[in-house]
Amino acid sequence: MSLALVTGAASGIGRATARCLADAGHALLLCDRDEAGLAAVATETDGMVLPLDLLDLTAVRARAAEVVRQHGRLHALVCCAGISGHGIPFAQVDEAAWDAMLGTHAKGHFFLIQALLPALAPGAAVVIVSSLFALRGSPNMPHYTVAKGALIGMARALAVELGPAGIRVNAVAPGLIRTPMTEHSASGDAAFFARREAATPLRRLATPRDVAESIAFLASPAAASLTGQVLSPSGGEAFTG
Ligand SMILES: NC(=O)c1ccc[n+]([C@@H]2O[C@H](COP(=O)([O-])OP(=O)(O)OC[C@H]3O[C@@H](n4cnc5c(N)ncnc54)[C@H](O)[C@@H]3O)[C@@H](O)[C@H]2O)c1
Repeated sequence: MSLALVTGAASGIGRATARCLADAGHALLLCDRDEAGLAAVATETDGMVLPLDLLDLTAVRARAAEVVRQHGRLHALVCCAGISGHGIPFAQVDEAAWDAMLGTHAKGHFFLIQALLPALAPGAAVVIVSSLFALRGSPNMPHYTVAKGALIGMARALAVELGPAGIRVNAVAPGLIRTPMTEHSASGDAAFFARREAATPLRRLATPRDVAESIAFLASPAAASLTGQVLSPSGGEAFTG
């Protein structure tokens, strides 16, 4: 049975991805720093819980070594964990916020993928969750946008370097998705999601499951010729002003 590891599996898009990959027949390794959330997803997907804080590189490397030792081979690796930088203007981003943002999204995932390399054989797929903001820019969350841009660079760099070893690396760049992260950012603005939905060409926001389906596609043999790509599940939001 093919084995998939998902970071950020405890909530939102990562949780939907875990369910989607389980539906597609993958066995799952569920990583997140939220242990209670992971336990719930493990029940839904029959996955194995691997608590992990991406900001702790010693723990990241130890966890990855454990995966290599115990499982040997990983068929799909989904890098989805993330934090929001919503509502912080450029002038107010301090070093601690920068370090947490880049540390979680870029540094943590960079060294996780590196440490899992021995488990990635020809046919393996890595899917990295970036954001539409990395393609379009966004106000008041510049460190988030920089981190998500770094992830697209990571996907492209690794696609080129690991391609000869038969390992594909792609990214998704979702638009606004209703998840605990964005519910929290939008709290206090009851019409936020309806407004954004109305401005989307398809008149619907992509759902966590929509993003999960894009990820599952990129991780599947149906995407065997795709590497270094950025797919944007966003209801067409990428093309509106
Ligand atoms: N929701 C959106 O509109 C949207 C749009 C584009 C991209 N994204 C990206 O999708 C991913 C998932 O976001 P979501 O909306 O589902 O958010 P979410 O808050 O529901 O889920 C994020 C998960 O990441 C985990 N996490 C955070 N920091 C971690 C760390 N240091 N180590 C381990 N786990 C950690 C959290 O515990 C949580 O379970 C993120 O990378 C986010 O940036 C979200």
